[in-house]
Amino acid sequence: MAFLERVFSGVQPTGNLHLGNYLGAIKRFVELQDRYDCIYCVVDLHAITVWQDPAELPHAIREVAAAFIACGIDPKRHIVFNQSQVAEHAELAWVFNCVARLGWLNRMTQFKEKAGKDRENASVGLYAYPTLMAADILVYRATHVPVGEDQKQHLELARDIAQKFNNDFGRSIRERGYGEAFFPLPEPLITGEATRVMSLRDGNAKMSKSDASDYSRINLTDDADSIAQKIRRAKTDPEPLPSEEKGLERRPEADNLVGIYAALAGTTRAAVLGEFGNAQFSTFKSALTDLAVAKLGPIGAEMQRLVRDPVAIDAVLADGAARAQKLAAETMKAVKDIVGFVRS
Ligand code: TYM
Repeated sequence: MAFLERVFSGVQPTGNLHLGNYLGAIKRFVELQDRYDCIYCVVDLHAITVWQDPAELPHAIREVAAAFIACGIDPKRHIVFNQSQVAEHAELAWVFNCVARLGWLNRMTQFKEKAGKDRENASVGLYAYPTLMAADILVYRATHVPVGEDQKQHLELARDIAQKFNNDFGRSIRERGYGEAFFPLPEPLITGEATRVMSLRDGNAKMSKSDASDYSRINLTDDADSIAQKIRRAKTDPEPLPSEEKGLERRPEADNLVGIYAALAGTTRAAVLGEFGNAQFSTFKSALTDLAVAKLGPIGAEMQRLVRDPVAIDAVLADGAARAQKLAAETMKAVKDIVGFVRS
């Protein structure tokens, strides 16, 4: 059965939006707007799987919405909202908690990383995180999900949940006239030169919001001076840049900086090396700084401007939530029917 093509993706409001979030996700959200109906969500329910200060969470939510808009997402043509305003996400997640198997969740590497050694003390929500993520996508029966590489395993789980729901309830789906399969198997879109942006301090660690060192990442709100300083201090190796991509193997820091340049410039690693092959890092870093400041400067400035007007951002989120809720309610109505719940 053919499903209507639709894009869904989400970003957590956990502060410090960085270059990895931009290149791996938000920049690509923007590019998909002309080809698909898109739904972009600030996933605040996911954020509270680890402690969030209630005094700071509203600002973090508005900042992600501001980043979406500042990067070029049009909230009139597409849907931008925060997850907690549409209760159907949590409702469908419960049904999926009863579809997904413990063994599947036990394999999730992100839970293992985030829970660390003190697993007994992790929230139940952190463990069930991927079933809520599957619900986010499938409550809109979305078919395409742009994400960075680190979300691949969660997307595979979402596909497994959709498949198992379709199988377990197959008879009910057919008998009640919902076709052969109720949920599409959502396709991850993990493409481009920067699907996994690494820390500027360590080419083997992912650039992350939670790294203790601010020098490990470029934040979307960094000013030109900080961007320049962070790139100047970025770890490199002593060799000049290679002239071909193969020469980046086993040079994680060089590979990362070249990948960042390529993604910011909208080109490929090969093309960047065509231009900078044999150059010293000092030359390359200064070109990268100019490019990063030119691309990120206006985004940071626009984000700052937008967050100064929280009322306007809240209006965008409320409008998006109302439109999202209509779609989600249709799915939930059908799911309840398929599962066999009695409704008044
Ligand atoms: P989050 O908030 O951690 O990250 C948001 C997006 O940024 C990508 N990303 C990166 N890409 C490249 N390099 C990096 N260093 C890097 N760091 C982060 C992430 O892959 C992500 O696409 N679980 C999701 C949020 C979510 C979601 C969803 C996504 C909740 N429900 C449904 C898609 C569909 C997350 O933690 O993203």
